[in-house]
Amino acid sequence: MPSPKKSRTKSSTVSSGKVQAAWGGRFKTAAAERLRDFGESVSYDWRLYPYDIAGSIAHAMMLQTIGFLTKKECQEIEKHLLAIGDLIDSEQFVFETELEDIHMNIEKELTRRTPAGAKLHTGRSRNDQVATDMRLWMKQEVERDLAAISALQLALVAWAEREPDVVIPGYTHLQRGQPVLLAHHLLAYVEMLERDKGRFADAAKRADVCPLGSGALAGTTLPLDRKLVAKLLGFSAVSENSMDAVSDRDFVVEYCAAASLLAVHLSRFSEDIILWNSSEFGFMSLGDAYTTGSSLMPQKKNPDVAELTRGKTGRVVGNLVSLLTTLKGLPMTYNRDLQEDKERLFDTADTVLACLEITAEMLTTAKSHPERCFSAAEDPLLLATDLADWLVRQGVAFRDAHHIVGTCVAKAEEIGVTLDRLPLSEMQAISPVLTEKARQVFALDQALDARDLPGAPSPKRVRAQVRKWQRKLA
Ligand code: ARG
Repeated sequence: MPSPKKSRTKSSTVSSGKVQAAWGGRFKTAAAERLRDFGESVSYDWRLYPYDIAGSIAHAMMLQTIGFLTKKECQEIEKHLLAIGDLIDSEQFVFETELEDIHMNIEKELTRRTPAGAKLHTGRSRNDQVATDMRLWMKQEVERDLAAISALQLALVAWAEREPDVVIPGYTHLQRGQPVLLAHHLLAYVEMLERDKGRFADAAKRADVCPLGSGALAGTTLPLDRKLVAKLLGFSAVSENSMDAVSDRDFVVEYCAAASLLAVHLSRFSEDIILWNSSEFGFMSLGDAYTTGSSLMPQKKNPDVAELTRGKTGRVVGNLVSLLTTLKGLPMTYNRDLQEDKERLFDTADTVLACLEITAEMLTTAKSHPERCFSAAEDPLLLATDLADWLVRQGVAFRDAHHIVGTCVAKAEEIGVTLDRLPLSEMQAISPVLTEKARQVFALDQALDARDLPGAPSPKRVRAQVRKWQRKLA
């Protein structure tokens, strides 16, 4: 699709005394230049054109079947609409802000080309037209989103597969908690992204309802065949209430809500990447192509992709709040305020898609530093819980075991040894249940292997998860 170039929209100038074509009958003077600029939406809603054209062709075909267009007129309309679509595709169509929006721009050009164009708006309003266009657009955008999310999931799974044995500390409160495989950490995001796909698909399901035939708000006196239009456009159903159909933007909110949570997930992942790339963590590095330097500090290699992704979450969430705020005070039914939905929606869609795509690309260059990871993960303190579990196996109540191990940790700190080196005499002074055998919990490999419940990070379980996702995403 061509990009919206400023040069493609003629800036508005009032041609003196001339009155707008679409509602000229009622008006004696043209809109003020400032109103034209204030009210136009074609500079951003032009991208609805493939859906506007598809909607108009379906509407025309239906008008023909019910006898309001001749076969010839319908063919003319279709031919010219397709030609207009080609012109827009090749960036040769000149949009006019005087004509407000994409709907009027296309209709005006169609009518210039064929008199039948003047019949196209029979039984239709821009209110049901724009709602239809937006729903069609969204259904397709969700397909793109689902594919992009799957691609990112695949990139995460591929990294997990590239470095299946790397152990890192798992954190709570950003304090080292327990050892996990890097792969397990990465697959956590694959799970989040899977839920995101569910939410987008769900939003698309509710967008899959055709508003055309609802007219401005109260349907039409003409015997339109709404089901035929819906079928031609690939909608699963027709809307059940004309007032709801033209005023409803729930589907836009739902899309933006799904996108917001997706953005939050991407932002959290970005934060991990940023931390892991710091000298303090040093767990990984990214390819030069996906990092930037500093204009001043020669040593810098910054994870800008992750920072920008984290940063752009602000606008995605802001768009959701902006939309909800726009909707909250609207009386039924259509109000011009609703035009404000588009920039929020398009910006949201463009932003999350860009974040998904570049993050997936960046991850192909991600490489862990296994020694750094290991030296952070091998801290015996990370296996303090395992020592408590060992005591539980010897019959000690968990709360008591927790207290015993806590005392061991304090003692080890006091005498300046690591937990696994606490002398036996000290251990037994704390609890006679503790023996030399207890030290076996500090073997990291075995500690990981032992975490063998469904959903746990034993290497065997994680490998099975990697395979599962590969199959699922293939
Ligand atoms: N550009 C308008 C929008 O996006 C289309 C609908 C205009 N309808 C109207 N009655 N002015 O909402």
